[in-house]
Amino acid sequence: MSRQHGIAGPASSHSIFVRSALPAAFAVLAAGCPLPPQGHRTENAGSPPVDREIVSYGFDIQPIFDKNCVVCHRKDGLGESAGIPLHLNSGQARLDLIDQPSVRNPNLILVLPGDPDNSLLYQKVSQDLPPVGFRMPLFDEPLSDLEIDLIRRWIEQGALP
Ligand code: HEC
Repeated sequence: MSRQHGIAGPASSHSIFVRSALPAAFAVLAAGCPLPPQGHRTENAGSPPVDREIVSYGFDIQPIFDKNCVVCHRKDGLGESAGIPLHLNSGQARLDLIDQPSVRNPNLILVLPGDPDNSLLYQKVSQDLPPVGFRMPLFDEPLSDLEIDLIRRWIEQGALP
């Protein structure tokens, strides 16, 4: 369902330009860096997401990152070796997202409190063809509908701690 949505979505000439440079970068990257083993999501990394009315970073969002993203977005992770300084482990992660520009395209903001549709973080977990780069988590199944919706509502509600 979301796959169709991504393919049907508008692709600006800009995003095509950015995308075309990436696969080559990845071929190099993938050859040099062994990927984490299949099924690397640790089932005991925090409790499963809960459908909460008020979404909090600490209770709801950080556990999603811990389970699905930190394997690459941490010190010396694959994200860093691809030139993405973003760390999603607990600590700085929330402040490193809010109002921060994408390193790939500084016109795109990672988290714009109140506006998920214009937040690159939300676009990259919910769209097969985000405005820059690939759908996250890279090389893995998309997040569940509930996880994606929690991220959406977290941003909508102002990206609270
Ligand atoms: C297998 C490694 C890997 C995993 C797992 C992964 N990422 Fe990434 N991420 C990357 C790489 C490599 C890039 C650079 C290419 C791109 O932008 O698509 C990236 C880029 C990003 C960016 C763009 C940063 C910027 O400044 O433009 C965001 C945001 C992001 N990832 C969020 C996430 C989230 C959230 C998750 C978990 C749901 C996740 N990633 C899981 C490797 C990964």
